[in-house]
Amino acid sequence: MKGSIVVGQSGGPTAVINSSVAGVYAAAKKLGVKHVYGMVHGIEGFLEDKLIELEDYLEDPVGIELLKRTPSAFLGSCRFKMPKIEGHEEVYEKVFEIMEKHDIECLFYAGGNDSMDTVKMLSDYAAAHGKPQRFMGVPKTIDNDLPVTDHCPGYGSAAKYIASSLKEIIRDNESFGAKKPTICIVEIMGRNAGWLTAAAALAKGEDCSGADAIYLPERVFDMDAFMEKVKHLAETKSSVVIAVSEGIHIADGRYVCELANENVAVDAFGHKQMSGTAAYLAQLIADETGLKTRAIEFSTLQRAASHIASLTDTNEAFQVGHDAVIAANEGKTGMMITLDRNGEDPYQCGTSVYDIHAIANVERPVPAEWITEDGCGLNEGYEEYARPLIMGELFPIFVNGVPQHLVRK
Ligand code: F6P
Repeated sequence: MKGSIVVGQSGGPTAVINSSVAGVYAAAKKLGVKHVYGMVHGIEGFLEDKLIELEDYLEDPVGIELLKRTPSAFLGSCRFKMPKIEGHEEVYEKVFEIMEKHDIECLFYAGGNDSMDTVKMLSDYAAAHGKPQRFMGVPKTIDNDLPVTDHCPGYGSAAKYIASSLKEIIRDNESFGAKKPTICIVEIMGRNAGWLTAAAALAKGEDCSGADAIYLPERVFDMDAFMEKVKHLAETKSSVVIAVSEGIHIADGRYVCELANENVAVDAFGHKQMSGTAAYLAQLIADETGLKTRAIEFSTLQRAASHIASLTDTNEAFQVGHDAVIAANEGKTGMMITLDRNGEDPYQCGTSVYDIHAIANVERPVPAEWITEDGCGLNEGYEEYARPLIMGELFPIFVNGVPQHLVRK
């Protein structure tokens, strides 16, 4: 590659999305790329020509190590939907104008389903208008719902946080051994895909009985059956901990969180902002049974917890960024890097590339065969898939007792 490149981050952050930026940078430096730019706040910032030189932060190897241990999007993220091309050509021309101005040959975009739509739109525009610039997708999402790829960087670390924190919650909840249990409802992100909530199943082990029930959005949520289940658990156990997805919905399609608040906010992609499911259910249980309840919403903690990041996840996030640059250098465009599992024992994973058209805007659900028949648990199939992804740790560098992060000046 003779010219320069730019990398951007988009959508909900993860604990390891910065490792992908580190991977892009490392590969580009090996190839002798002139400048490695970072978009400030994704494509939205790029359209305003907001760029930084990564060299300013990463020339010193300590910078790379700190970046890998920094959660959230170091470059800044955005939730910006590219408009349809027809009638909005000026938006696309602006992107190419800025690329030409900085001699940028290739744009790398780390994100989930919606962000891959940006890669698709830009590569389609380039193809239709004979533009030489290339566009590569770098997978990232705690939701783990991108198709084709075996899994998505960001998922393993969020799953590790969920399994570990849930285990700690169970330990706490069972400490009183009360005659009447406290019912604890834990709400987990993931929108319409239950991958993250499924990670609650990983809390179970020889020292922990695990979650008492796990509700994924892949199944319609039956409020009566749920209440029956809770009452039965309360009669037979001294501690009850239940994991629910933020995206569980009742038969008429309404999310459970909408039952408490009809006016939920909607983002640029039309996604409803989901929150309050655990609080709603906990209150319902308290009202109907008189039992003590507790609602815990993991919220942003689960995607920002770099202090418990999975080393496997961190390494794979680095790898997809690195390999995206290698692929672009070979002339690939309009593609996303995928993770391909090619060994179980020991776990092994490589990468390849796939057409972005088959990936953008597609959500991959948890396979039905991994959900137990009663609809509120996961079987060994899921555990075999997910356990390797949470293995290993990358510890923070602690300064003054708290993790040190790399920040933009
Ligand atoms: O897509 C990642 C994700 O963390 C989802 O799991 C969640 O529903 C959403 O982002 C939350 O979005 P926001 O950060 O805009 O509240």
